[in-house]
Amino acid sequence: MSLDLDKRQRAMLREMGVRLWQPPPADAATGPGAIDSVATGVRPTRAEAQFDTETGRPPAAPVPAARPPQAAAAPVARAPAAPAPGLQPRPDGIELMAWPALQAAVAGCRACALCTSRKNTVFGIGPAAGDVLPTVDWLVVGEAPGEHEDIAAEPFVGQAGKLLDNMLLAMRLQRGSDEAARPGVAKNVFITNVLKCRPPANRNPEPAEVAQCEPYLKRQVELLQPKMILALGKFAAQSLLQDSVPEVHKIPLGKLRGQVHSYLGVPVVVSYHPAYLLRSLGDKAKAWDDLCLAMSVAPTLTHSV
Ligand code: URA
Repeated sequence: MSLDLDKRQRAMLREMGVRLWQPPPADAATGPGAIDSVATGVRPTRAEAQFDTETGRPPAAPVPAARPPQAAAAPVARAPAAPAPGLQPRPDGIELMAWPALQAAVAGCRACALCTSRKNTVFGIGPAAGDVLPTVDWLVVGEAPGEHEDIAAEPFVGQAGKLLDNMLLAMRLQRGSDEAARPGVAKNVFITNVLKCRPPANRNPEPAEVAQCEPYLKRQVELLQPKMILALGKFAAQSLLQDSVPEVHKIPLGKLRGQVHSYLGVPVVVSYHPAYLLRSLGDKAKAWDDLCLAMSVAPTLTHSV
């Protein structure tokens, strides 16, 4: 892909950690490097490459050796599981809620066990994310709050968040928060996650947890009316594309990139999760390609002022 970057975008890419590839001498211009001015990173070390390419999480601990088979126990009739203490059904009518009611519903949600270990719910951050309904051009969807986000009640405030901020800055976007607006940069983006509560020890979200949280994300999209959604990582991609991409759970993240999907009629571009990019520097160039794809699909969207 040929990128025509101005000086400022090059500076922003440097901030994002993306190195610009220099064309080789003419006689060496063959093979995969023989393309026009492409942003590229450095190869991940072997240790970095061992991280999950789709979630950015370290590999799971080795599974202990299987025990020798034992005689199968006779099936025991079980009573239906009682709801865990402290849990309550999700509130009704989410699909009709206005923004303040939706915020309150998330803040009080006790529909799954994550409510017992969270410090805070993390609804999202964007312009006027207080009581007034914000509408935005861009919606970024990540996976779930981590330790820092759980404490701060704000998505993407840790190291992955710093990279996300730099990625947004490369698009001339800035998270809506109290920080003063940078010149020429728009706060026209809302950032949220599939899960609104932190999974303990940053484990992967479980399907039942994703299903419990899904109506909240859906209502956020309906109310925010974004014109472009960036789905970062496997869980965001799977959650948003489950109704439009057959067997999306079986498709590697890399194969969902490079095309424009749709969620509730809003275009969706899939990219790597920033936590994965922190460990896999070589894929930052691909993430930049994804951002360029999103910007090219939506050239009229506000991503600068
Ligand atoms: N990772 C996410 O997916 N979301 C956050 O808010 C923080 C880290």
